[in-house]
Amino acid sequence: MNTPIDLFSPVKLGSHTLANRMVMAPMTRLRAIGSIPQPMMVDHYTQRATAGLIITECTMVSPMSNGYMNCPGIYSPLQVQGWQKVTEAVHNAGGKIFLQLWHCGRISHSSLLEGKQPVAPSAIAPVGALHTPIGKVPMETPRALEKHEISEIIEQFRYCAENAYKAGFDGVELHGAFGYLIDQFLQDGSNQRTDEYGGSVENRARFLLDVVKAVSSVWGADRVGIKLSPSNTFYGMFDSNPQATFTYVLQALNPIGLAYVHLMEPNETDLQNRDVINPVTPLFRPIYQGTLITNGNYTKETANAALARGDADIVSFGKLFLANPDLPKRFELNAPLNEPSFKTFYGSTNEGYTDYPFLEQVAS
Ligand SMILES: Cc1cc2nc3c(=O)[nH]c(=O)nc-3n(C[C@H](O)[C@H](O)[C@H](O)COP(=O)(O)O)c2cc1C
Repeated sequence: MNTPIDLFSPVKLGSHTLANRMVMAPMTRLRAIGSIPQPMMVDHYTQRATAGLIITECTMVSPMSNGYMNCPGIYSPLQVQGWQKVTEAVHNAGGKIFLQLWHCGRISHSSLLEGKQPVAPSAIAPVGALHTPIGKVPMETPRALEKHEISEIIEQFRYCAENAYKAGFDGVELHGAFGYLIDQFLQDGSNQRTDEYGGSVENRARFLLDVVKAVSSVWGADRVGIKLSPSNTFYGMFDSNPQATFTYVLQALNPIGLAYVHLMEPNETDLQNRDVINPVTPLFRPIYQGTLITNGNYTKETANAALARGDADIVSFGKLFLANPDLPKRFELNAPLNEPSFKTFYGSTNEGYTDYPFLEQVAS
Protein backbone atom coordinates (compact mmCIF):
# COMPACT_ATOMS: atom_id res chain seq x y z
CA MET A 1 0.00 0.00 0.00
CA ASN A 2 1.29 3.49 -0.83
CA THR A 3 1.82 5.76 2.17
CA PRO A 4 -0.08 9.03 1.70
CA ILE A 5 1.96 12.04 0.70
CA ASP A 6 2.27 14.70 3.37
CA LEU A 7 4.74 17.38 4.47
CA PHE A 8 7.07 14.73 5.88
CA SER A 9 7.41 12.69 2.68
CA PRO A 10 10.71 13.06 0.82
CA VAL A 11 10.46 14.46 -2.68
CA LYS A 12 12.56 14.81 -5.83
CA LEU A 13 13.28 18.40 -6.79
CA GLY A 14 15.11 18.38 -10.11
CA SER A 15 18.37 16.59 -9.42
CA HIS A 16 17.98 16.89 -5.62
CA THR A 17 16.02 14.79 -3.16
CA LEU A 18 14.53 16.82 -0.32
CA ALA A 19 14.09 15.19 3.09
CA ASN A 20 10.65 16.78 3.49
CA ARG A 21 8.19 19.00 1.63
CA MET A 22 8.53 22.04 3.89
CA VAL A 23 10.41 24.74 2.00
CA MET A 24 11.49 27.98 3.63
CA ALA A 25 10.13 30.76 1.38
CA PRO A 26 12.48 33.61 0.40
CA MET A 27 12.39 36.47 2.90
CA THR A 28 14.20 39.80 2.69
CA ARG A 29 15.47 40.81 6.12
CA LEU A 30 17.81 43.70 5.23
CA ARG A 31 20.71 42.62 7.44
CA ALA A 32 23.34 42.54 4.66
CA ILE A 33 25.25 45.68 5.63
CA GLY A 34 26.73 47.25 2.51
CA SER A 35 25.08 44.44 0.46
CA ILE A 36 27.48 41.83 1.87
CA PRO A 37 26.13 38.75 3.71
CA GLN A 38 26.99 39.07 7.41
CA PRO A 39 27.83 36.45 10.08
CA MET A 40 24.34 36.78 11.60
CA MET A 41 22.91 35.65 8.26
CA VAL A 42 25.02 32.49 8.53
CA ASP A 43 23.38 31.79 11.90
CA HIS A 44 19.88 32.67 10.69
CA TYR A 45 19.94 30.30 7.74
CA THR A 46 21.79 27.51 9.57
CA GLN A 47 19.17 27.56 12.33
CA ARG A 48 16.58 26.72 9.65
CA ALA A 49 18.54 23.90 7.93
CA THR A 50 15.89 21.25 8.73
CA ALA A 51 13.67 22.77 6.02
CA GLY A 52 13.55 20.44 3.00
CA LEU A 53 15.00 23.42 1.13
CA ILE A 54 15.85 26.99 2.09
CA ILE A 55 15.36 29.70 -0.51
CA THR A 56 17.32 32.81 0.42
CA GLU A 57 16.09 36.37 0.48
CA CYS A 58 16.11 38.15 -2.88
CA THR A 59 19.65 38.97 -3.95
CA MET A 60 20.79 41.69 -6.33
CA VAL A 61 22.33 40.87 -9.69
CA SER A 62 23.82 44.38 -10.08
CA PRO A 63 23.97 47.71 -8.26
CA MET A 64 21.04 48.90 -10.44
CA SER A 65 18.86 46.08 -9.08
CA ASN A 66 18.79 47.58 -5.59
CA GLY A 67 15.33 48.27 -4.24
CA TYR A 68 15.98 48.24 -0.50
CA MET A 69 18.76 49.29 1.85
CA ASN A 70 21.02 46.43 3.01
CA CYS A 71 19.80 43.83 0.57
CA PRO A 72 22.54 41.34 -0.30
CA GLY A 73 24.10 41.07 -3.74
CA ILE A 74 25.99 38.32 -5.58
CA TYR A 75 27.79 40.38 -8.23
CA SER A 76 31.05 41.05 -6.34
CA PRO A 77 33.77 38.76 -4.91
CA LEU A 78 33.10 39.96 -1.33
CA GLN A 79 29.42 39.11 -1.68
CA VAL A 80 30.31 35.65 -3.03
CA GLN A 81 32.64 35.10 -0.07
CA GLY A 82 29.90 36.15 2.35
CA TRP A 83 27.44 33.69 0.79
CA GLN A 84 30.06 30.91 0.82
CA LYS A 85 30.01 31.04 4.61
CA VAL A 86 26.21 30.68 4.57
CA THR A 87 26.13 27.70 2.19
CA GLU A 88 28.97 25.91 3.97
CA ALA A 89 27.26 26.20 7.36
CA VAL A 90 23.85 25.16 6.00
CA HIS A 91 25.42 22.13 4.29
CA ASN A 92 27.29 21.18 7.46
CA ALA A 93 23.94 21.23 9.24
CA GLY A 94 22.50 18.87 6.60
CA GLY A 95 20.43 21.47 4.75
CA LYS A 96 19.96 22.49 1.13
CA ILE A 97 19.87 26.08 -0.04
CA PHE A 98 18.95 27.91 -3.27
CA LEU A 99 19.76 31.58 -3.88
CA GLN A 100 16.96 33.86 -5.07
CA LEU A 101 18.26 36.05 -7.92
CA TRP A 102 16.52 39.40 -8.25
CA HIS A 103 16.32 42.66 -10.12
CA CYS A 104 13.95 45.26 -8.65
CA GLY A 105 13.38 47.18 -11.91
CA ARG A 106 11.10 50.14 -11.19
CA ILE A 107 10.66 49.27 -7.47
CA SER A 108 13.50 51.55 -6.46
CA HIS A 109 14.56 55.16 -6.11
CA SER A 110 17.51 57.17 -7.42
CA SER A 111 18.79 57.58 -3.84
CA LEU A 112 19.31 53.78 -3.78
CA LEU A 113 20.95 53.81 -7.22
CA GLU A 114 23.77 56.34 -6.84
CA GLY A 115 21.53 59.06 -8.27
CA LYS A 116 20.48 57.07 -11.36
CA GLN A 117 16.86 56.80 -12.46
CA PRO A 118 15.30 53.35 -11.88
CA VAL A 119 14.84 51.24 -15.01
CA ALA A 120 11.87 49.20 -16.23
CA PRO A 121 10.32 47.82 -19.43
CA SER A 122 8.30 51.05 -19.79
CA ALA A 123 8.27 54.49 -18.16
CA ILE A 124 5.30 53.73 -15.92
CA ALA A 125 5.55 54.67 -12.24
CA PRO A 126 4.75 52.04 -9.63
CA VAL A 127 2.29 52.88 -6.86
CA GLY A 128 3.72 53.44 -3.38
CA ALA A 129 6.69 54.62 -1.38
CA LEU A 130 10.01 53.11 -0.30
CA HIS A 131 12.39 53.46 2.64
CA THR A 132 15.55 55.03 1.23
CA PRO A 133 18.67 56.76 2.57
CA ILE A 134 16.72 60.05 2.34
CA GLY A 135 13.65 58.75 4.19
CA LYS A 136 10.37 57.24 3.01
CA VAL A 137 9.71 58.65 -0.44
CA PRO A 138 7.29 57.93 -3.31
CA MET A 139 8.79 55.84 -6.08
CA GLU A 140 9.88 57.70 -9.20
CA THR A 141 8.85 57.14 -12.79
CA PRO A 142 11.42 54.74 -14.25
CA ARG A 143 13.21 55.04 -17.54
CA ALA A 144 12.39 52.47 -20.24
CA LEU A 145 15.32 50.12 -20.86
CA GLU A 146 17.11 50.28 -24.21
CA LYS A 147 17.29 47.00 -26.12
CA HIS A 148 21.03 46.58 -25.51
CA GLU A 149 20.47 47.14 -21.77
CA ILE A 150 17.99 44.25 -21.68
CA SER A 151 20.70 41.96 -23.08
CA GLU A 152 23.11 43.31 -20.45
CA ILE A 153 20.69 42.49 -17.63
CA ILE A 154 20.17 38.95 -18.96
CA GLU A 155 23.95 38.59 -18.91
CA GLN A 156 24.03 39.89 -15.30
CA PHE A 157 21.60 37.16 -14.30
CA ARG A 158 23.83 34.58 -16.03
CA TYR A 159 26.99 35.93 -14.42
CA CYS A 160 25.40 36.00 -10.98
CA ALA A 161 24.13 32.44 -11.49
CA GLU A 162 27.79 31.53 -12.02
CA ASN A 163 28.69 33.38 -8.82
CA ALA A 164 25.94 31.48 -6.97
CA TYR A 165 27.58 28.28 -8.20
CA LYS A 166 30.96 29.47 -6.91
CA ALA A 167 29.34 30.38 -3.59
CA GLY A 168 28.27 26.75 -3.14
CA PHE A 169 24.50 27.00 -3.52
CA ASP A 170 22.46 23.94 -4.52
CA GLY A 171 20.57 25.89 -7.15
CA VAL A 172 18.93 29.23 -7.86
CA GLU A 173 15.42 30.61 -7.88
CA LEU A 174 14.50 33.50 -10.17
CA HIS A 175 12.32 36.11 -8.55
CA GLY A 176 9.63 36.39 -11.17
CA ALA A 177 6.98 37.51 -8.67
CA PHE A 178 5.80 40.52 -6.68
CA GLY A 179 6.05 43.21 -9.35
CA TYR A 180 9.83 43.21 -9.78
CA LEU A 181 11.63 43.35 -13.12
CA ILE A 182 10.77 39.91 -14.56
CA ASP A 183 7.12 40.39 -13.55
CA GLN A 184 7.20 43.97 -14.92
CA PHE A 185 8.06 42.61 -18.35
CA LEU A 186 5.44 39.87 -18.12
CA GLN A 187 2.36 41.83 -17.09
CA ASP A 188 0.84 44.39 -19.44
CA GLY A 189 0.10 46.85 -16.62
CA SER A 190 3.83 47.65 -16.52
CA ASN A 191 4.93 46.76 -20.06
CA GLN A 192 3.86 48.86 -23.02
CA ARG A 193 6.91 48.25 -25.19
CA THR A 194 6.50 47.99 -28.91
CA ASP A 195 9.62 45.90 -29.61
CA GLU A 196 9.99 42.13 -29.25
CA TYR A 197 9.87 42.45 -25.43
CA GLY A 198 6.37 43.99 -25.34
CA GLY A 199 2.89 43.70 -26.80
CA SER A 200 1.83 40.07 -27.24
CA VAL A 201 2.12 37.62 -24.34
CA GLU A 202 4.86 35.82 -26.31
CA ASN A 203 6.83 39.07 -26.36
CA ARG A 204 6.16 39.98 -22.73
CA ALA A 205 7.28 36.51 -21.60
CA ARG A 206 10.48 36.76 -23.67
CA PHE A 207 12.56 38.42 -20.95
CA LEU A 208 11.53 35.81 -18.37
CA LEU A 209 12.33 32.97 -20.74
CA ASP A 210 15.63 34.56 -21.83
CA VAL A 211 16.68 34.82 -18.17
CA VAL A 212 15.55 31.25 -17.45
CA LYS A 213 17.65 30.00 -20.36
CA ALA A 214 20.69 32.10 -19.43
CA VAL A 215 20.67 30.89 -15.84
CA SER A 216 19.94 27.29 -16.89
CA SER A 217 23.01 27.41 -19.15
CA VAL A 218 25.07 27.67 -15.95
CA TRP A 219 23.18 25.31 -13.64
CA GLY A 220 21.20 22.99 -15.87
CA ALA A 221 17.46 23.66 -15.78
CA ASP A 222 16.94 21.00 -13.11
CA ARG A 223 18.65 23.23 -10.53
CA VAL A 224 16.70 26.35 -11.40
CA GLY A 225 13.30 27.39 -10.07
CA ILE A 226 11.12 30.45 -10.62
CA LYS A 227 8.64 32.20 -8.35
CA LEU A 228 5.49 33.64 -9.94
CA SER A 229 2.57 35.56 -8.45
CA PRO A 230 -0.39 35.67 -10.87
CA SER A 231 -2.67 37.40 -8.34
CA ASN A 232 -0.27 39.84 -6.76
CA THR A 233 -1.28 43.51 -6.70
CA PHE A 234 1.83 44.84 -4.92
CA TYR A 235 2.99 48.31 -6.06
CA GLY A 236 0.15 48.63 -8.58
CA MET A 237 0.91 45.47 -10.58
CA PHE A 238 -1.78 44.17 -12.87
CA ASP A 239 -2.40 42.29 -16.07
CA SER A 240 -5.48 42.56 -18.26
CA ASN A 241 -5.69 38.75 -18.54
CA PRO A 242 -3.60 37.00 -15.88
CA GLN A 243 -5.05 33.58 -16.61
CA ALA A 244 -3.95 33.74 -20.25
CA THR A 245 -0.58 35.32 -19.40
CA PHE A 246 0.42 32.80 -16.76
CA THR A 247 -0.98 29.87 -18.73
CA TYR A 248 1.28 30.88 -21.60
CA VAL A 249 4.32 31.14 -19.32
CA LEU A 250 3.73 27.77 -17.67
CA GLN A 251 3.23 26.10 -21.04
CA ALA A 252 6.44 27.69 -22.29
CA LEU A 253 8.29 26.46 -19.18
CA ASN A 254 7.02 22.88 -19.54
CA PRO A 255 9.63 21.67 -22.06
CA ILE A 256 12.50 23.40 -20.21
CA GLY A 257 12.43 20.99 -17.27
CA LEU A 258 13.01 23.40 -14.37
CA ALA A 259 13.52 22.10 -10.83
CA TYR A 260 10.21 23.75 -9.92
CA VAL A 261 7.75 26.57 -10.33
CA HIS A 262 6.87 28.36 -7.07
CA LEU A 263 3.34 29.79 -7.20
CA MET A 264 2.02 32.39 -4.79
CA GLU A 265 -1.56 32.52 -3.68
CA PRO A 266 -3.09 35.99 -3.22
CA ASN A 267 -2.82 37.58 0.21
CA GLU A 268 -5.47 39.61 2.06
CA THR A 269 -4.41 42.88 0.41
CA ASP A 270 -4.59 41.37 -3.08
CA LEU A 271 -8.08 40.06 -2.36
CA GLN A 272 -9.20 43.49 -1.16
CA ASN A 273 -7.57 45.36 -4.05
CA ARG A 274 -9.07 43.51 -7.01
CA ASP A 275 -10.97 40.52 -8.26
CA VAL A 276 -7.88 38.28 -8.57
CA ILE A 277 -7.49 34.58 -9.37
CA ASN A 278 -8.14 32.71 -6.13
CA PRO A 279 -6.99 30.07 -5.50
CA VAL A 280 -4.07 30.14 -7.91
CA THR A 281 -2.43 26.73 -7.56
CA PRO A 282 -5.33 24.38 -8.47
CA LEU A 283 -6.06 26.47 -11.58
CA PHE A 284 -2.52 26.13 -12.92
CA ARG A 285 -1.77 22.59 -11.65
CA PRO A 286 -3.18 20.92 -14.78
CA ILE A 287 -1.16 23.27 -17.00
CA TYR A 288 2.28 22.88 -15.46
CA GLN A 289 3.74 19.39 -15.80
CA GLY A 290 6.76 19.76 -13.50
CA THR A 291 7.18 20.13 -9.74
CA LEU A 292 4.97 22.83 -8.19
CA ILE A 293 5.64 24.58 -4.90
CA THR A 294 2.65 26.46 -3.53
CA ASN A 295 2.94 29.38 -1.13
CA GLY A 296 0.79 31.75 0.85
CA ASN A 297 -0.52 31.62 4.38
CA TYR A 298 -0.39 27.84 4.72
CA THR A 299 -0.65 26.04 8.05
CA LYS A 300 0.35 22.42 8.65
CA GLU A 301 -3.26 21.36 8.09
CA THR A 302 -3.98 23.40 4.95
CA ALA A 303 -0.59 22.43 3.50
CA ASN A 304 -1.21 18.72 4.03
CA ALA A 305 -4.68 19.11 2.52
CA ALA A 306 -3.18 20.80 -0.57
CA LEU A 307 -0.64 17.95 -0.94
CA ALA A 308 -3.34 15.31 -0.46
CA ARG A 309 -5.52 16.92 -3.15
CA GLY A 310 -2.53 16.98 -5.48
CA ASP A 311 -2.71 20.78 -5.91
CA ALA A 312 1.07 20.99 -5.46
CA ASP A 313 4.06 18.77 -4.69
CA ILE A 314 5.65 20.96 -2.04
CA VAL A 315 4.57 23.84 0.21
CA SER A 316 6.68 26.81 1.19
CA PHE A 317 6.25 28.70 4.44
CA GLY A 318 7.44 32.26 4.99
CA LYS A 319 6.45 33.80 8.30
CA LEU A 320 6.20 30.43 10.06
CA PHE A 321 9.87 29.66 9.24
CA LEU A 322 10.83 33.22 10.11
CA ALA A 323 9.50 32.74 13.66
CA ASN A 324 10.18 29.00 14.05
CA PRO A 325 13.69 27.87 13.14
CA ASP A 326 12.67 24.26 13.90
CA LEU A 327 9.32 24.39 12.08
CA PRO A 328 9.49 20.77 10.75
CA LYS A 329 10.02 19.43 14.27
CA ARG A 330 7.19 21.54 15.66
CA PHE A 331 4.87 20.31 12.91
CA GLU A 332 5.91 16.72 13.59
CA LEU A 333 5.19 17.04 17.32
CA ASN A 334 2.15 19.30 16.89
CA ALA A 335 4.03 21.68 19.19
CA PRO A 336 3.00 25.30 19.70
CA LEU A 337 4.46 27.86 17.29
CA ASN A 338 6.32 31.10 18.03
CA GLU A 339 4.49 34.18 16.73
CA PRO A 340 6.34 36.31 14.15
CA SER A 341 7.14 39.84 15.32
CA PHE A 342 6.44 42.26 12.45
CA LYS A 343 8.48 45.09 13.93
CA THR A 344 11.73 43.13 13.49
CA PHE A 345 11.04 41.71 9.99
CA TYR A 346 13.39 44.35 8.60
CA GLY A 347 16.21 45.61 10.76
CA SER A 348 19.89 45.57 11.47
CA THR A 349 20.19 43.49 14.64
CA ASN A 350 19.84 39.90 15.81
CA GLU A 351 16.55 40.76 17.49
CA GLY A 352 13.75 38.91 15.72
CA TYR A 353 16.34 37.31 13.44
CA THR A 354 18.46 34.72 15.24
CA ASP A 355 16.77 34.77 18.64
CA TYR A 356 13.47 32.99 17.98
CA PRO A 357 13.61 30.08 20.44
CA PHE A 358 13.90 26.42 19.45
CA LEU A 359 11.44 24.02 21.07
CA GLU A 360 14.01 22.80 23.63
CA GLN A 361 14.63 26.38 24.70
CA VAL A 362 10.92 26.98 25.23
CA ALA A 363 10.59 23.75 27.22
CA SER A 364 13.57 24.36 29.50
C1 LIG B 1 9.69 39.72 5.85
C2 LIG B 1 9.35 39.15 4.49
C3 LIG B 1 10.21 39.32 3.44
C4 LIG B 1 9.93 38.76 2.18
N1 LIG B 1 10.86 38.85 1.18
C5 LIG B 1 10.68 38.15 0.03
C6 LIG B 1 11.71 38.03 -0.94
O1 LIG B 1 12.83 38.53 -0.76
N2 LIG B 1 11.45 37.32 -2.06
C7 LIG B 1 10.22 36.73 -2.28
O2 LIG B 1 10.04 36.10 -3.31
N3 LIG B 1 9.24 36.81 -1.38
C8 LIG B 1 9.44 37.47 -0.23
N4 LIG B 1 8.48 37.47 0.74
C9 LIG B 1 7.24 36.70 0.51
C10 LIG B 1 7.36 35.29 1.08
O3 LIG B 1 8.33 34.54 0.36
C11 LIG B 1 6.02 34.57 0.98
O4 LIG B 1 5.63 34.54 -0.37
C12 LIG B 1 4.93 35.26 1.81
O5 LIG B 1 5.41 35.58 3.11
C13 LIG B 1 3.70 34.39 1.95
O6 LIG B 1 4.02 33.17 2.63
P1 LIG B 1 3.62 32.96 4.19
O7 LIG B 1 2.15 33.30 4.29
O8 LIG B 1 3.92 31.53 4.47
O9 LIG B 1 4.44 33.92 4.99
C14 LIG B 1 8.71 38.05 1.99
C15 LIG B 1 7.83 37.90 3.06
C16 LIG B 1 8.14 38.42 4.31
C17 LIG B 1 7.17 38.20 5.46
